[in-house]
Amino acid sequence: MKLQPWEFIERKGREAIAMLTAYTCPVARALERAGIPVILVGDTVGMVEMGFDSTRQVTLEHMEYHIGAVRRGAPDTHIVGDLPYRTDRDPDTALASARRLVAAGADSVKLEGDKYQVIRHLVGNGIPVCGHTGLLPQTAKGFAKVGRGEAEAQRIREEAKGIEEAGAFMMVMEHIPYELAGVITGERAIPTIGIGAGPECDGQVLVINDALGLGDYWPPFSKQYAHASDTILKVARDFAGEVASRAFPDNIIRMTGTGHQ
Ligand code: KIV
Ligand code: NA
Repeated sequence: MKLQPWEFIERKGREAIAMLTAYTCPVARALERAGIPVILVGDTVGMVEMGFDSTRQVTLEHMEYHIGAVRRGAPDTHIVGDLPYRTDRDPDTALASARRLVAAGADSVKLEGDKYQVIRHLVGNGIPVCGHTGLLPQTAKGFAKVGRGEAEAQRIREEAKGIEEAGAFMMVMEHIPYELAGVITGERAIPTIGIGAGPECDGQVLVINDALGLGDYWPPFSKQYAHASDTILKVARDFAGEVASRAFPDNIIRMTGTGHQ
């Protein structure tokens, strides 16, 4: 059944949380069947599905389309929807944006960084918020690990504290030193979901395309549980070969097909 925000907080220290992204209905359906407790419709969709070179080109309309598809595939799973770049720039704009994502099917929204006023405003208006600290793809210059120096580590610890105090029920920590992630996880009362942040987080998230091996680049901290791009290549080649040789369609398919008489 669909988990509520407080149930994720309750899991902290008890049960590790497995989060995956999804952007389409059939993938969401499989994740729900597998019992994944929380699906993130991330703005990574712009990079891994739409071919953009950053998440900044993603719009609210894009997110509504994908959240709707994921909701239809996973009606009983908690869905977090990413607020696209700049749609969370001030409390009122963020609330209007978040309401659109909720109307499209999201149970909560995620936003990047130290926008504490925005988080407070959304939570005060009944929209659960998942925070996001460490590497922030919407504003980062590149994808290098952050939080290495003492001052930077301190800043991220403070940001995690601010996110929790503003009322977030969970937070993603992206690409920070493992030790820092462990410290923050120990300090905070809400669950931390790591990506490239080591084993001491309360949960882990992977971009589904990375986990599937669907694409031609993946970050070093991800893991490929399958090689879907190779499968697609093989399917396309096999199909093309069978069309050329007229092996497809065969007689049996033609006779039992329900197409034209
Ligand atoms: O958009 C996304 O998929 C994310 C994850 C990398 C946490 O924000
Ligand atoms: Na994101």
